[in-house]
Amino acid sequence: MSHPMDPRRRHLLRWMGMVGTGTALSGLMKSFAQDMQECSDSDVPSDNPMNCSPSAPSGPPVPFTPPTGPTYPRKSAFDLTPREVDRFRTAYQAMRDLTQSNPQDPRGWLQQSAVHCWYCGGGTDALSGPEIHFGWFFLPWHRAYLYFHERMLGQLIDDPTFRLPYWDWDRFGMTPSRQAMPPIYTQGNLSSNSLNDPFRGASPIQQMPFTCSNPYLTYRVLSQSSFETFGGVPNTGNPRNQGQLEATQHDRIHNFVGLGVDAQGKFNPAYQPLCGADMGDLSTAARDPIFFAHHGNIDRFWDMWKNFQPGRENPTDDFWQGQGFLFYDENARWVSIQVSDVLDTRNLGYTYASLQTSLPPKKPPLTAPKLDIESAVVVSGKNGIPLKPNGNTYKVPLKYSKIKNPSPKKYFLKIQGIQIAPNDSAQAFVFLNAADNPALELGGGDISQGVTPSTLQQAIASSSYLGSIGSVRSRSSLVHLHKNHVFGVTLEVPLDALYLTLRKQRIIVSIVPVNSLGQPAGGDISFQSIVFEARDAL
Ligand code: C2O
Repeated sequence: MSHPMDPRRRHLLRWMGMVGTGTALSGLMKSFAQDMQECSDSDVPSDNPMNCSPSAPSGPPVPFTPPTGPTYPRKSAFDLTPREVDRFRTAYQAMRDLTQSNPQDPRGWLQQSAVHCWYCGGGTDALSGPEIHFGWFFLPWHRAYLYFHERMLGQLIDDPTFRLPYWDWDRFGMTPSRQAMPPIYTQGNLSSNSLNDPFRGASPIQQMPFTCSNPYLTYRVLSQSSFETFGGVPNTGNPRNQGQLEATQHDRIHNFVGLGVDAQGKFNPAYQPLCGADMGDLSTAARDPIFFAHHGNIDRFWDMWKNFQPGRENPTDDFWQGQGFLFYDENARWVSIQVSDVLDTRNLGYTYASLQTSLPPKKPPLTAPKLDIESAVVVSGKNGIPLKPNGNTYKVPLKYSKIKNPSPKKYFLKIQGIQIAPNDSAQAFVFLNAADNPALELGGGDISQGVTPSTLQQAIASSSYLGSIGSVRSRSSLVHLHKNHVFGVTLEVPLDALYLTLRKQRIIVSIVPVNSLGQPAGGDISFQSIVFEARDAL
């Protein structure tokens, strides 16, 4: 079964003049233009605001066929040989040159980046394809996108063995030299290094904060036992549910590279919303070559997650596996590829050189309590509950009864109706019983009294850390009638966190917002409900 998302439909609509003609829209475009003028001209790519509709194909799509020839490993961007770096730069330069010589060629750099823009809110002309973030197509769509991008680069240097490098921000723990962007992307400038990008917030030596990537975040993401909490659930209806990989390192690292700070550790005002730091905005993120290294690692995490423990399964749902995506291939043919085509990377001609990562010290395994623990509404407010700059904390009693042979249960914390303004890159950490965790002294025992970067670190490294909420802004949705990002997250409650709640007989949930420097800071986040849910484990 194949039911491709067809951008041509929108394209046709546009030709027919049916989209993007409202007066409300032109009003918004005007305020957008005013915002743009507040930024220094040299900081704004000249082609913003933009249109990112794909080039119209000449005929119907052909079904994907796996590449012939051997499988090659994708390597770490820190581990390429000088010769490999050279070839990679030559390939990227050729892709950039193609944009100059033939702007309509779908294999050119700007057209390639527009593919990503199209599927994440669209251009500022209010045209867009279906959204593939905030839900379960996030992983397979980006895998297919990277595959075609990799093939195009290989073709441009006439090298079918070319494979994209990945930026393994997880692999070296907190090693300082590995906590900045890989040097091959930051050396020189755009004329000497085609992998550079003048529109970045982070400086070449800027080290990412603890809140972006660390062994505790890696462990929490990889230990999600179902695809639902790791990779997301259907984004067809409301609410969409973001998986923890997307919510955590994916969003944080976009925001680190894209928002960043200056040498004094201050936010660079040139990269505030609408000023054009590429990675910090989904509509421009793929203009930065480092996007593909970041997403290479996100893709590698999918394989790491599958191998992390026995029994890891991708969704078997036909609706997911049969979903088709349309891309141009390296020969500029219009190709339809399905989720089922991308589940094994060997079907796409690549593997990962290393699935090793840095994890926290192992703890002895725990056994489930012999209790019947009840679900509970922690808080709910139909009109949305704003997240305070210091975070919000809620306490409710935990109800349970002792029984001899309880049916095996799994426990989740569900946060629904999360709303984040589209021009905001907000992020928050969620804790269970941090205020009661004797290992933590958060603001004098109560996380609601405020946290510092160091207490936040302790909390993330503790068994109280459950997971993340995150977003990367997309300026186009701002122009699209001020539509907020609306989604939910489901966090698996691990047994050690569950035991903390049992000891105090209370469920205490704390949500703490942070900025891209990892400092506690308010964002424009609200949510409608938090529910502690006990489900029968299958
Ligand atoms: Cu499609 Cu990293 O976003």
